[in-house]
Amino acid sequence: MPREIVTVQLGQCGNQMGSVYWQRLCAEHGINNEGILEEWATEGGDRKDVFFYQADDEHYIPRAILVDLEPRVINNILASPYHSLYNPENIYISKDGGGAGNIWAQGYSAGERIYEDVMEMVDREAEGSDSLEGFMLMHSIAGGTGSGLGSYMLERLNDKFPKKLIQTYSVFPNANEGDVVVQPYNSLLTLKRLTNHADSVVVLDNGALARLCADRLRVQTPSFDQTNQLASTVIAASTQTLRYPGYMNNDLVGIIASLIPTPRCHFLMTSYTPFTSDQIDKAKPIRRTTVLDVMRRLLQPKNRMVSTTPSKTACYISILNIIQGEVDPTDVHQSLLRIRERQLATFIPWGPASIQVALTRRSPYVTTSHRVSGLMLANHTSIASLFKRMLDQYDRLRKRNAFLDQYKKESMFHNDLSEFDESRATVDELLKEYKACESPDYISYGTSLDDHAA
Ligand code: GTP
Repeated sequence: MPREIVTVQLGQCGNQMGSVYWQRLCAEHGINNEGILEEWATEGGDRKDVFFYQADDEHYIPRAILVDLEPRVINNILASPYHSLYNPENIYISKDGGGAGNIWAQGYSAGERIYEDVMEMVDREAEGSDSLEGFMLMHSIAGGTGSGLGSYMLERLNDKFPKKLIQTYSVFPNANEGDVVVQPYNSLLTLKRLTNHADSVVVLDNGALARLCADRLRVQTPSFDQTNQLASTVIAASTQTLRYPGYMNNDLVGIIASLIPTPRCHFLMTSYTPFTSDQIDKAKPIRRTTVLDVMRRLLQPKNRMVSTTPSKTACYISILNIIQGEVDPTDVHQSLLRIRERQLATFIPWGPASIQVALTRRSPYVTTSHRVSGLMLANHTSIASLFKRMLDQYDRLRKRNAFLDQYKKESMFHNDLSEFDESRATVDELLKEYKACESPDYISYGTSLDDHAA
């Protein structure tokens, strides 16, 4: 049975990133822009049905729901060569059309209004699956729609489908040059829901994506199209083992179980190498790709898609390397030994100190100029520094109660700002738990009365 996954794309970022992702998936599975399998795509062995279903006329249709509160981005998708790929019944554009004005509260309130319409799409997709494994949500946490409506959808999906997994691909704002003045509010309110209602959050940080574009593509001010190419390469690689299954990690629950030992610490970082011009316009060539090169590069902080602050105590909770290409398992074994000998990765003191590796096939239809490529999915305690930065930015704004008028217009904030305080407390607790993971005593974390009270 396919273990289907339904993708929900929200807001500008979610839909733009999602559209590049579906283009990539189509290319990898030999599906053309209209959803028709190319005549030459005869290799088989892939699982298209996890992410696509077939219409009566054999067209492949993404299991995707596209939602936005303003029409521009979805209209662009509908004017693109991929306009007939999506199921038109799965597209929701708000009738008001004005977006959420970068205000979380507006996106969240819109969720209450449009819930029935969007949930009908979700239910139809869920019922059309044989054995739905869960949902993937794509959004940004800084604007109004992806963050506010995304928060609302996370709560409702979790209520309605408590046994299904929810994995999000969440774009965090560039900490140095945020383009939304109230992003600290939006991000914090969303982080509470990502903590409480998602099973796994793949953090994609626009600051790190811009840094990688500058480094890999020599583009100082990358377009969203370029950052989305980076992001969608990573998202596609993270689903590679589901689409080209091997012995292990061929369902989402397996991947999450191997990376997330305790439920709240479920924020994952990624690294990918090499980015080449096959995937990204203008990427620099990479000369050698042995398994050891790839694994070593994956561990370099500069290749991470999250900008964290270096710390002596930070360590890995878990690592899963998804290695694609022609790989001899002996090379993998030897590379792991070398990495251990050279102590290239420091792990938590209370769990197994090992890098897990999944070897996976590549799409036979996408030509690449390099032998081996790899994605690292990692749970690393330095993510706490990202939360710390967000809390500091929030505190600075909140100290003056700056820019709160737009929030107070929505009923949940009329006379009551306690939602902000609760969200702050949740993120603070998350930060503390990630820091506690660095100590051998973590095993008893949360068992004492004080911890419970926290
Ligand atoms: P409203 O505009 O308020 O309705 O909400 P929205 O969710 O549609 O906003 P948006 O998705 O534009 O969120 C703003 C944040 O997302 C900013 O930090 C942008 O830099 C970032 N962003 C917007 N579009 C993209 C994109 O295509 N790719 C990436 N990586 N980031 C994006």
